[in-house]
Amino acid sequence: MEKTINQMLIIFGASGDLTARKLIPALYNLYKNKHIPENFVVLGASRSAMTDAAFRKKVVQESKYLQEKIGKEDKDFIKKFSDKMHYEDIGDDYDTDYTKLAKRIKELNENAGTDDNFIFYLSTPPSLYETIAKNLSNAGLTDEKKGCKRIIVEKPFGYSLKTAEELNNGLQKYFGESQIYRIDHYLGKETVQNLLVTRFSNSIFEPLWNRNYIHHVEITNAETVGVEKRGGYYDKSGALRDMFQSHLLQIVSLIVMEPPINSSAEEIRNEKVKALKSLRIMKDKETLFNNTMKGQYVSSTIDGKKVNGYRQEEGVDTKSKTETYAAIKFFVDNWRWKDIPFYVRTAKRMPTKVTEVVIHFKSPHHAIFTNEDRYNTDNKLIIRIQPDEGILIKFGVKVPGQGFDVERANLDFYYSELVDTVVMDAYERLLLDAMQGDATLYARADEVEAAWAFVDPILEYWAKDKSVNTYGYPAGTWGPKNSDDLIEDSFGWRNPGQHLTDESGFSIIK
Ligand code: BG6
Repeated sequence: MEKTINQMLIIFGASGDLTARKLIPALYNLYKNKHIPENFVVLGASRSAMTDAAFRKKVVQESKYLQEKIGKEDKDFIKKFSDKMHYEDIGDDYDTDYTKLAKRIKELNENAGTDDNFIFYLSTPPSLYETIAKNLSNAGLTDEKKGCKRIIVEKPFGYSLKTAEELNNGLQKYFGESQIYRIDHYLGKETVQNLLVTRFSNSIFEPLWNRNYIHHVEITNAETVGVEKRGGYYDKSGALRDMFQSHLLQIVSLIVMEPPINSSAEEIRNEKVKALKSLRIMKDKETLFNNTMKGQYVSSTIDGKKVNGYRQEEGVDTKSKTETYAAIKFFVDNWRWKDIPFYVRTAKRMPTKVTEVVIHFKSPHHAIFTNEDRYNTDNKLIIRIQPDEGILIKFGVKVPGQGFDVERANLDFYYSELVDTVVMDAYERLLLDAMQGDATLYARADEVEAAWAFVDPILEYWAKDKSVNTYGYPAGTWGPKNSDDLIEDSFGWRNPGQHLTDESGFSIIK
């Protein structure tokens, strides 16, 4: 196990929901599994007035997100964890003199022995990133002469290519790129990382991983929830910005990328950037029209309960055309992927929560056994990111008896079968990586910008062109009725269920 150096985590926006819901539970798991260094403290910094004791109560002792975990634990053990939490009221505005904050950090650093190693976690709106970075720098808190200084920022990284560049430039005025950690929680998911391992530590997939053998690639990201309490944010964002530009293009980059020369953060990220830069940017109206589709959920009844349509959600404009469903078809302009379509969709209020990648292989070059149902006999590799994480290969087997009837069978692997292994939650893994200075699973500035460069023209087309339709789909369905139109041939979207294997696969029960 790699040793984590002594350090302090300073969370800006600590009174917000993310700290209690994700960050502290992740830290607690790390503490429980002995990944937290000997000398470690958390300093929450926000605009609310709170004492250390009140902060400890809020994020540990009385936190609903920790209750189940700490309920049966030894009281001393929990107290030790809770005592690591501290709080500093920043005043009315984040744009202020941080001398008082710096004094508190210095005191804590000396008392706790955190060796001047500080990680600043910005759980605030992105509009504050540069301001906070500037004030940290002015207070002498970014200097790496003694101890390391890192800054973690949450998505969204900008609203467009231009704003992302501004955000990056703003942060880079005060922190070097190697000090900046842009969190994309999908990269913290075990199964997303496993995409790299599946491809590059097996010799059976990579030889087929190209235009000669792959027919098309399909990625589905579906959520059952609507926009919940985030209507205000979401209505200005939409599915393309919220999910596609970040999480889904990260997954795409791992599928598309070439083998890196080694597993270092820089080499992996170099290849991911190259992959993102090779996505063919859609420029003309006709291409954009034919290859993109947006939709919005409308009210329906799910399990006998009436659910709101998007326009009825709190914080959403009653005439909103913001997409809660986005489906994009695109091509990758490089040697490996020429002419192979990628289909990626993401949506809220779908029948089930699922994220999966389906690699559809081409039919055998010469068909010996005639079988008309290509969809059901072609090989597919399904990589299930969530839930029921695992990998499934669909392949043809002979139906016993006369003739050569072909049926498909499943070859599968489930993460849940690895009973002795603790699979870390995404935030847990990412926080630990940042604490150890490993940026492999964080997005680099040029990656983020390359993703925006691809998404920008689609956003602009959707926003400005009057001929773009926003298709309504009843909440709880697989999107607009015409959503299969995006996929040519007889292929439609694979509409997956809760379980990796929805159907039984081929078997003979005697
Ligand atoms: C977030 C989006 O980044 O990811 C949310 O802002 C979305 O809208 C969430 O619900 C999905 O994450 P997960 O891990 O539940 O798939």
